[in-house]
Amino acid sequence: MKVVLATSNKDKIKEIKNLIPKNYQILTTKDLNIDNFEVEEDGETLKENAYKKAKALYDRIKEPVIADDTGIFVKSLDNRPGVRAHRYASNNPTYKENRNKMLEELRGKEDRSAYFCTCVCYIDKAGKDHYFEGKIYGQITEKELGAYDFGYDQIFKPESSDKTFGQMTVDEKNHYSHRALALNKFVNYLKENDEDIDN
Ligand code: IMP
Repeated sequence: MKVVLATSNKDKIKEIKNLIPKNYQILTTKDLNIDNFEVEEDGETLKENAYKKAKALYDRIKEPVIADDTGIFVKSLDNRPGVRAHRYASNNPTYKENRNKMLEELRGKEDRSAYFCTCVCYIDKAGKDHYFEGKIYGQITEKELGAYDFGYDQIFKPESSDKTFGQMTVDEKNHYSHRALALNKFVNYLKENDEDIDN
């Protein structure tokens, strides 16, 4: 079975391709020669944004698609930046500018607890939408640790680990991550619904 990813984020693509069993063929918009696949993420929830991205692609190709929308929710910041994790430091920030802003806002704060949440929207061949969620709790570290420069990974340490996501390999991160939890539910759904045969 083929599934097309409604994202052009290379970090997400790498993680997702590592997570989905090889009997599913995961294609990207680039594989279909769709350039600059961008959808404005102006929804109030992860679910709305995931649906918006998946639907925009489904309407173009009428094939099964998945989209992932992720947020980071920090307790001492009243759950900000939350759904707006991308445009936290400015309108078009680098990952590093976002991390710096978070470290600055949390300076001196004792409670550094936070969680990542991912909502995956799958639109099947018939156009029906399905949702899968993954959440992981942890702490925002005092400084950046690790070399994996993806979003907030270098400043997020999951509860059950002594490393930040930034200090992990993609495979290690995929043992714990919000994205892995959501995608594992998606893969189980496909298996339970016999959608793993080539069709
Ligand atoms: P998106 O809306 O799902 O594209 O994600 C919004 C922002 O969250 C991204 O620009 C990244 O900064 C951050 N982000 C998404 N997924 C992850 C992750 O797995 N680790 C760290 N940061 C992430």
